[in-house]
Amino acid sequence: MTNLTIKIGQTVFKNPVFVASGTFGYGTEINDLTDISALGAIITKSITLHPREGNPPPRTIETLGGMINSIGLANMGVDNYIRDMLPLYHQFPTKIIVNIAGSTMEEYLQVLKKFESVSSNITGYEINISCPNVKEGGMAFGVNADFTARLTEQLRSLTQRLLIVKLSPNVTDITQIGKAAQRAGADAVSAINTLVGMSIDSTTRKSNIYTTYGGLSGPAIKPVALACVHKLFLKLKIPVIGIGGITNVSDAIEFALAGAVAFQVGTANFRDPDIGRKIVYELDDYCTQNNLKYSDLKGQVIRYQ
Ligand code: SIN
Repeated sequence: MTNLTIKIGQTVFKNPVFVASGTFGYGTEINDLTDISALGAIITKSITLHPREGNPPPRTIETLGGMINSIGLANMGVDNYIRDMLPLYHQFPTKIIVNIAGSTMEEYLQVLKKFESVSSNITGYEINISCPNVKEGGMAFGVNADFTARLTEQLRSLTQRLLIVKLSPNVTDITQIGKAAQRAGADAVSAINTLVGMSIDSTTRKSNIYTTYGGLSGPAIKPVALACVHKLFLKLKIPVIGIGGITNVSDAIEFALAGAVAFQVGTANFRDPDIGRKIVYELDDYCTQNNLKYSDLKGQVIRYQ
């Protein structure tokens, strides 16, 4: 196998293929469906201070080239997670990055403090300031550069672990939010979370999503994600992790050319939970055949101007 390792901050990953938050559970449920040891990292579903039931159904709908979700950050809450899940990561075959969400700044800080107060081998945190499906917090935070900076700064002061800020595409200029995260000490940004979308049944005239709007993901958003990654790559010094409609190795290469150091496979996991592992092997073949590393492609898109 080619050397696929990549580095983000001080952390070395065995390869750039991560699975995205909310598409792979807590990382422990999918052992029978794929070889998780092949993956560079697993990003957990979002963890909040208190357990959350999430939004009422219907909360997912397939759309052309993707899907809309409005899960509403359903999760077991940080205390249950620490008690029940963290021990399962002992000698886990890949790196775990815990995704954290909150309704207030204080909630994010409390969740992170709780993780830092126990012994565990988690690698770091992805901070979700971009969920479009909650009334308080979520995307409302991620569209505000000042909030992003203040939150990142506070979180940075609480941990030496890898700190990744997950950005929303539902903004005028994603690089302003990325710069705020960078200034405040983030090790990396991940981009993009979902685009606000809507789906209607023309026969019943009903919304297909209980909350009316939800987050659009999948191949339909790949061009938007590539543009965001490229803009961030041009403006930021810290690494950019690409997310948005990746289903095969060609997509992965496009994200590298746009400037991504690593990428997350998301919606494609629902169709094939083994897709991340397959992309690792395809990427290995590609790199071997072309005698290069994934990182050699970073930002190498050939532009007309
Ligand atoms: C959700 O739980 O509604 C999706 C999470 C997200 O988009 O960040």
